Amino acid sequence: NAKTTQVKLVLLGEAAVGKSSLVMRFVNDDFQENKEPTIGAAFLTQKIALEDKTIKFEIWDTAGQERFHSLAPMYYRNAQAAVVVYDVTKAASLDKAKSWVKELQRQANPNIVIALAGNKVDLVQPAGEGEDESMENGRQVPTEEAKAYSNETGLLFFETSAKKGDGVRDIFKEIAKKIPLE
Ligand code: GTP
Ligand code: MG
Repeated sequence: NAKTTQVKLVLLGEAAVGKSSLVMRFVNDDFQENKEPTIGAAFLTQKIALEDKTIKFEIWDTAGQERFHSLAPMYYRNAQAAVVVYDVTKAASLDKAKSWVKELQRQANPNIVIALAGNKVDLVQPAGEGEDESMENGRQVPTEEAKAYSNETGLLFFETSAKKGDGVRDIFKEIAKKIPLE
């Protein structure tokens, strides 16, 4: 039996980008069409087994509404991992995500593993055959833009759909791989 390592993980991002929905998909493999905004923060746990180790995530799902911003440091202070979420159909939510990344890089644990997640890809209408991504309907953040930013900044990067489940497990799995064994 491989050793279980506990990892404190925090979710940050603008209101309504789908933080709670990503957690609900990862923890319960479920989705709610009209999920209520988080008040303060919610705490959930979920394990993920890799070949050589098991990680137990202790997840703090924070509230994105601006009135809760001042609470965030309590949740990211001792975090070993963070998932910063934006909505691919809302350009301003990427700006907010970038400001969370800056805050984490200034104030959080210097070894924190940060993943950027562009959520709600199911709302993007795919481009037609032979057309490029700029012909997609509903997308406000090009994949390449967010990917380039993530590479420059040293973040893991994923596009996800909490609704369909796409990419959700990958975020947690790739974070788990980057956590050093104690
Ligand atoms: P706060 O708690 O206020 O910060 O919001 P949040 O980031 O936790 O967002 P939440 O998970 O509550 O989702 C907001 C709304 O977006 C809900 O109505 C969800 O059903 C919807 N939603 C979340 N993820 C997705 C997704 O991947 N696709 C679609 N189509 N809708 C989503
Ligand atoms: Mg929430």
